[in-house]
Amino acid sequence: MGFQPMLAGMCEKRIFLKWSLLVALLTRAGSPCHDKVNSETEGKTLHLLIATTNVGKIREFRQMLGTERFEYSDLSQHPPIEAVEETGRTFRANACLKAIHYAQLFKTAAIADDSGLEVDALDGSPGVHSARWAELNQAGKGDAANNALLLKQLADIPDARRTARFVCVLALADAKGRIVMTVRDTMEGTVTREPRGTNGFGYDPLFLVAFHGQTTAELPPATKHEISHRGKALQRLRLMMDVAMAKDEDLS
Ligand code: IMP
Repeated sequence: MGFQPMLAGMCEKRIFLKWSLLVALLTRAGSPCHDKVNSETEGKTLHLLIATTNVGKIREFRQMLGTERFEYSDLSQHPPIEAVEETGRTFRANACLKAIHYAQLFKTAAIADDSGLEVDALDGSPGVHSARWAELNQAGKGDAANNALLLKQLADIPDARRTARFVCVLALADAKGRIVMTVRDTMEGTVTREPRGTNGFGYDPLFLVAFHGQTTAELPPATKHEISHRGKALQRLRLMMDVAMAKDEDLS
């Protein structure tokens, strides 16, 4: 591993550790916030619809948000309905579209996410089109086709310019379909020249995390969740929800 990618990875890890410490300080023993959360919100549960049918995401959401304060349902438990058209030009717009739609439809607080890969040499593409990148470029369909197209598009791009990031935006809507909070987080990396690893999904086999010297498809899932765009966004959403519930704000 080169010195610069290693340094970048170490910085990212340090920022993550600092953030984790802040979260711990704000939410654990000794914090006035925490005492208030325990005494005033004890016993209160909020029903949350996790607006996805992706079992991996559902598991991750439940693990990260915990079961003390929330009870969950997800789209697989509701009668099948047509998916929302993701017409937004930003991750935030699409996450909000989905959260509002499902909250209004099922009359419950709903949490939705939108995510994707931004590649600097492609001016931020595939971005919000990540899931259907090959399809939109008449180059096939699905993860393998997306990855093959990306590698082709970056074939002439030197290693130093293959920087990219995964982005995740989470949106929480209340039962009336009003957006209560949104969170955005990222994970920095570079695009490899060939797929590596079998874990994960999507662009994971091409996404190299400098600090670990592995792609996110080579990392154990728990390690990926700790550093990933979605994992970090979920941690921050949990913190924001803790604080809102401690202030007795109605999220339902
Ligand atoms: P969505 O948020 O489920 O619509 O995902 C959008 C697309 O972004 C996925 O189909 C993947 O191609 C890509 N993507 C988002 N997050 C990840 C990730 O953690 N690993 C790999 N690919 C991802």
